[in-house]
Amino acid sequence: MKDQSAQVAPETVYLKDYTPFGWIIESVHLTFRLAPEATRVLSRIRFAPNPDAPAQDFFLHGEALSLISASIDGTPVDPQVTPQGLTVAVPDSAFTWEAEVEIAPAKNTALEGLYMSNGMYCTQCEAEGFRKITFYPDRPDVMSIFTVRIEGEEKVKLSNGNPGKTGEGFAEWHDPWPKPAYLFALVAGDLVSHPDAFTTKSGRDVDLNIWVRPGDEDKCAFGMEALKKSMTWDEDVYGREYDLDVFNIVAVDDFNMGAMENKGLNIFNSSCVLASPETSTDANFERIEAIIAHEYFHNWTGNRITCRDWFQLCLKEGLTVYRDSQFTSDMRSAPVKRIEDVIDLRGRQFPEDQGPLSHPVRPESFQEINNFYTATVYDKGAEVIGMLKRLVGDEAYSKAVDLYFDRHDGQACTIEDWLKVFEDATGRDLAQFKRWYTQSGTPRVAVSERFEGDTYTLTFRQHSPDTPNQKDKQPQVIPIAVGLLNPNGDEVLPTTVLELNDSEQSFNFKGFAAKPVPSILRGFSAPVVLERDTTPREKAFLLAHDTDSFNRWEANRDLARDCLLAMILDGAGPDTAWLDGLEAVLRDDSLDPAYRALMMAGPSAAELAQVLYARGHTPDPEAIHQAGETLAQFKSERWVDLLPRLAEESRVTGAYTPDAEQSGKRALASAVLSLQTRLDGGKAAAEQFAAADNMTLQLAALGQMVKSGTGEAALEDFYAQWKHDRLVMDKWFGLQVAALPPEEAVERAERLTRHPDFTITNPNRFRATLGALAGSHAAFHRKDGAGYRLLAEMLIRLDDLNPQTTARMCAAFQTWKRYDSAHRAFARAELERIKAKPKLSRDTDEMVSRILN
Ligand code: ARG
Ligand code: ZN
Repeated sequence: MKDQSAQVAPETVYLKDYTPFGWIIESVHLTFRLAPEATRVLSRIRFAPNPDAPAQDFFLHGEALSLISASIDGTPVDPQVTPQGLTVAVPDSAFTWEAEVEIAPAKNTALEGLYMSNGMYCTQCEAEGFRKITFYPDRPDVMSIFTVRIEGEEKVKLSNGNPGKTGEGFAEWHDPWPKPAYLFALVAGDLVSHPDAFTTKSGRDVDLNIWVRPGDEDKCAFGMEALKKSMTWDEDVYGREYDLDVFNIVAVDDFNMGAMENKGLNIFNSSCVLASPETSTDANFERIEAIIAHEYFHNWTGNRITCRDWFQLCLKEGLTVYRDSQFTSDMRSAPVKRIEDVIDLRGRQFPEDQGPLSHPVRPESFQEINNFYTATVYDKGAEVIGMLKRLVGDEAYSKAVDLYFDRHDGQACTIEDWLKVFEDATGRDLAQFKRWYTQSGTPRVAVSERFEGDTYTLTFRQHSPDTPNQKDKQPQVIPIAVGLLNPNGDEVLPTTVLELNDSEQSFNFKGFAAKPVPSILRGFSAPVVLERDTTPREKAFLLAHDTDSFNRWEANRDLARDCLLAMILDGAGPDTAWLDGLEAVLRDDSLDPAYRALMMAGPSAAELAQVLYARGHTPDPEAIHQAGETLAQFKSERWVDLLPRLAEESRVTGAYTPDAEQSGKRALASAVLSLQTRLDGGKAAAEQFAAADNMTLQLAALGQMVKSGTGEAALEDFYAQWKHDRLVMDKWFGLQVAALPPEEAVERAERLTRHPDFTITNPNRFRATLGALAGSHAAFHRKDGAGYRLLAEMLIRLDDLNPQTTARMCAAFQTWKRYDSAHRAFARAELERIKAKPKLSRDTDEMVSRILN
């Protein structure tokens, strides 16, 4: 007998090897007999030969399944079973496959397939979890109609589609829409619901429910409103209606990701749906609204039209992220949302694309697909859609997307299909544009200018550095939104989109008496790094006058960054000219408080490290941290008059609501509080902590108290107040690590991993604690290697239990080669220690190997 536990070299899957499955599935019937340690799954699947596929052996995926029995057309068969699946001889024409398998959901700590969370059964099948439920062609291009019967004593038993018969100990479900197995879902438990209803544009009545564990009922109202807004928005903006009689959302405490768009039965990490003013921050509310929208929008972009294979993941994710960002812009402030998205892109996607994990938006190979649910696929994927829309215009975008829905409804598609609808709708050749999907790395765009006679000329040069497995990149199509201002600050050329196609290209603007000031890459019109030598005066001018809210913010960010770089590299003092310019903006009460709050935040330590590295310096985490502290102290002393005024302006009157207006004020108030705390040693923060009636104010105050060294008693009070609430306790775990100075943060994180409320099997708790460590630049990159050591130790412990979350968190090490040799030696030792762990999961093995290379 073969030893199934022996480690085999992980197999690499290539996009170029795609072959259609040899059969189509006419119908699937599944029966679940639920039991925590021994659930039986009976499948009856009708297969018919696929005339469009090459001849092949009949292979069904299946992992960690005990096969009880199998038959074809009623005759027992004896398939050949391997750790990956089974093969069996099948008839030449259509046949019925039946199998019974046994699985143990209570032992499933990987949280893929069918597992248990707090006594409740639930599933996560994307990307390849269905193969842990039964034998099946677990690939997105095999779509079928599912009928499901669930047997068990749980009060609530849910699956996809519309409800069928229910009775003593069973419930049946039928999903009329063909779907791939990754969209299958099942939930069973003693749940309660927050019900509502929605009538679609064409008159379909839909029952809506958010299902939660008893006790969480009062945290559903906000999510429900977000769902109804999303349904209306998709009808109004994309003409997309819902297509079933019920739409169920379930909150689950143990979940690897944010949420999952299973057809008619979305399953959410409880942190991404449950909300109340007392327990959730403004940022939580905004995120929940966006994720509810995201999963709902997948019903069309993902479910009705799905992906042919997992290389096409960005087809559904890039588009759906783009759609949810449009939604948030419409519901809240578009300028603020754009800045938030760019901060996120630079904070997560740029480091990925400029390091060892760089991969194209559409990858060409992988070992473990779960490792490719990345900022590149999601967020750069969304940026690519935004560029496409900017290039073809809003009307053509709508026309092309309509054509996409018409042409491909019910199909499993590729990026080629997506680009073709744009080519057909607009007559435009998108061959060069497609490089955004196939070339990895962040393009750099250098700009120079000339003014001669009355003609102003901008010259752009683009180049993309080599990335792992990719050299000698070709020029991409880069839409560059530009505006010009005259020296008085009036706009003389409103935003115009220039199309950069060549490696070098010039654009002329005629009829100027004086040299205009350019505002380039307005709205961050392409995900590139702009390289331009300008004077601080010109940036100050844009900070004062730019009509593009993004570039006005960007001018400030550049000045803040340059100030910090000068402090770090040359020992310079803070740039007072910049601070005066910024103060003038902060005093302008016609500007949205949320926007001013964004202006007050400087670039993150990680971003500074990235810029230093890109400019040929070795980042010193301690020096970066120190510069940030010095600048903040300087600001708070310089702005003693400004701070009380801003505090006054940002005072909220009336009952708490998580809308954009109130949240903006609280964001500004928090920025003020953090400077104020440096002056009063935590007095204002302590008052705010005592008086707070909502989590936003309470947590902001607690953070400042901990930062100022006066927070230990408050941390205990907070614990006593909230120890019954898991989601709030996640904040308690994370905040201490994030707010403490680097000298204490690592030891605190270590101590917290031994706290009785630390549960290694709960991804939220693990991420709250260790993610906070990884996100605290100076603590994680501490020069004694303690940050690296603790994270590695915990990842080694988690790998046996939950490979997916372990692998994702390895990405904290992705920048390790940028630091000095002492840091590198510590990081390498820890990465090698992870790599050497016996029985390392395929997920983690792939990540660590890529990072080490
Ligand atoms: N499709 C989900 C979403 O973005 C994410 C599921 C990711 N699951 C995974 N195992 N990687 O909405
Ligand atoms: Zn998604």
